[in-house]
Amino acid sequence: MNTNKILVSPSILAADHANIQQEIERVNRSGADWVHVDIMDGVFVPNMSFGFPIVKATKKHSQLPLDVHLMIVNPQNYIQEFIKAGADILTIHYEAVTHLHRAIWQIKNAGVKAGVALNPSTPVSMLEEIIQDVDMVLIMTVNPGFGGQKFIENSYSKIMRCKELILKRNSQALIEVDGGVESHNAAKLINAGVDVMVAGSYIFGAKDYAENVKLLKYPIENAI
Ligand code: DX5
Ligand code: ZN
Repeated sequence: MNTNKILVSPSILAADHANIQQEIERVNRSGADWVHVDIMDGVFVPNMSFGFPIVKATKKHSQLPLDVHLMIVNPQNYIQEFIKAGADILTIHYEAVTHLHRAIWQIKNAGVKAGVALNPSTPVSMLEEIIQDVDMVLIMTVNPGFGGQKFIENSYSKIMRCKELILKRNSQALIEVDGGVESHNAAKLINAGVDVMVAGSYIFGAKDYAENVKLLKYPIENAI
């Protein structure tokens, strides 16, 4: 059983962007821990989302740290700009950068937490030489690019392999999952070793955001 505190990071990709202030204020009051901000460039992923103005607007209203997930090529070129826009945790994809070690330390040296994200087909073993340097591993539980997709079942064993690697190397990295997360898989994810759950449609599609945040943090064990 994972006894760590479970964090929830609602993904504003699924929010009503015409009412971003109101949406962020609802998240502030929901018991969530972070706000997840998805940046897509139409190159790394086959979709576009939003850029700096929305990150800044979110920062302006958020009382929670901004958990910024870059699904863009050459993320190293935009690190300073995203930090200026308000990122508190900045995550880049393993598949999008050649010099991952350098990019991770650019983020950390700027005083921000650094995360590395893995696509579903990228094995955890690719992180063997960087796991001690990162503050978080984001395991994509769908192929990145869209909200509302089906959770990939292989993710549970991948999370366990990641947890093993973290323990073996004495790393402090948190494990975050992103895609298709809801109350039905929350207990199993927590037991596998997840620390942070990102959820888009499950939170913003709810009537009461606080209720669904609670269901992710404290899922009924046998509801799987
Ligand atoms: C997908 C994004 C996710 C997305 C999750 O590429 O990284 O953060 O918003 O959406 P749901 O929770 O609806 O699967
Ligand atoms: Zn994301």
